[in-house]
Amino acid sequence: MSEQEAIRSYQLDQTKAPLLTALSEYRKKRMVSFDVPGHKQGRGNEELTRFLGKDCLSVDVNSMKMLDNLIHPTGVILEAEQLAADAFGAARCFFMVNGTTSAVQAMIMSTCLPGDKIIMPRNVHRSAVNALVLTRAIPVYVNPSLDMELGIPLGMSVNDVRRAIEENPDATAVFLNNPTYYGVCPDIKEIVSLARAAGMRVLVDEAHGTHFYFSDELPTSAMEAGADMAAVSLHKTGGSLTQSSLLLLGPNMIEEGGYVHQIINLTQTTSASYLLLSSLDITRRNLALRGEETYKRVIDYADYARCEINQLGGYYAFGGERCNGDAFYAFDLCKLPVHTRTMGLSGFEVYDILRDDYDIQVEFGDMGNFLAILSVGDRPVAIERLIAALSDIKTRFASLPETMLVNEYIEPQLVMAPTEAFYAKFERIPLEKCKGKISTESVMCYPPGIPILAPGELVTDEVLTYIREAKERGSQMTGTEDPAVEYLCVVK
Ligand SMILES: Cc1ncc(COP(=O)(O)O)c(C=O)c1O
Repeated sequence: MSEQEAIRSYQLDQTKAPLLTALSEYRKKRMVSFDVPGHKQGRGNEELTRFLGKDCLSVDVNSMKMLDNLIHPTGVILEAEQLAADAFGAARCFFMVNGTTSAVQAMIMSTCLPGDKIIMPRNVHRSAVNALVLTRAIPVYVNPSLDMELGIPLGMSVNDVRRAIEENPDATAVFLNNPTYYGVCPDIKEIVSLARAAGMRVLVDEAHGTHFYFSDELPTSAMEAGADMAAVSLHKTGGSLTQSSLLLLGPNMIEEGGYVHQIINLTQTTSASYLLLSSLDITRRNLALRGEETYKRVIDYADYARCEINQLGGYYAFGGERCNGDAFYAFDLCKLPVHTRTMGLSGFEVYDILRDDYDIQVEFGDMGNFLAILSVGDRPVAIERLIAALSDIKTRFASLPETMLVNEYIEPQLVMAPTEAFYAKFERIPLEKCKGKISTESVMCYPPGIPILAPGELVTDEVLTYIREAKERGSQMTGTEDPAVEYLCVVK
């Protein structure tokens, strides 16, 4: 689609970038500031200005009439949000400056009251588990299913969601990832129709799904599928600044928009960064005008890399051929997950070797796979470098695969509500002595930040083995008070 065709396909004028325009005008005015921030367009912090650049500091400003206010937008921020809603096919859009974490939490907090049930796959991000603590909601976890050969969790199968809905007709919502970290998408249209028939909301974590809105070759987006809300990390694959994100509302939520906004404002800063906000505005315009062509290029790069890596032998760069019509309903072609177990190396190991020996940073490694994410900023030369490094790693390190632990799904044993456990009296004891205790905190490998253990869950042998193995293989563990993850807080 040409830029002119793209412009015509939207209702609003997507060539506009109201925040960019307003900030450019503000800069021209050479305003004298007797307000915050105290660096006063960079003059009060020379070192920082040298590092980040004068242009950057000159628009790191506070809310004012000409620049609107994120807490209660009525001017250029509101206009920029309306343009983003139009670009993403949503009824309403909120700009978020505390990451997709805040968007995920706003979805759950505006849907669940204390004690409400929410149906979700276990492989949700920590932001969703933490939202359970904040809302006192009760998770009904659905086994996300597992690809046994690759050892990765998938989306949820339609039948499992149907069963969870039938067994929990009082649940308020179904929460899902579109896609998962590995690029796996569930049958979102069918799940939306099941939930809708049962009177439940559908909340979608689309932290990794920005590009779905700008290409027909990619899986169905949440808004297209008719979901109620979606949390979209424009900063992950769209190109905006880290931490900037979007919360989208579908047409069914239009009446609830004011309430959702009040929920966002419970925790939102009153000093939203104009660097982040303008990056959302500029990125939205860029994607609306040129997104289709951009992601076509990204898909081509990823397809090329998949093909070349598979020709190296030993690795398995998997893709759409794994789709099974159910829990692996569709694949995000911009993702480049690579299975490494067949070479006797864990994904953690390849992740570390790529960084330490080749200066290549991929997104994450797990027991049997690593993930490279391709997006708007990739270049063929970098892809060639990754392929060459993988070839070299194979020559240097490949061995037999027998020592690998399969990345099994660990069925969580929720024995106490997450909030109750989080706020319970606790004791801090060595991990190895925690078997049979109830955890008050989460444990996860970061990235991807998906809990192995969450507040309210029983510590089992399986959980302990997984944590031990992940640590031995060099995964960065997070979530616990103890930075070394040697001790765990459990209910006293
Ligand atoms: C699936 C998923 N959801 C939510 C988030 C949170 O996003 P952010 O880091 O922008 O707060 C992440 C971040 O990695 C994620 O992977």
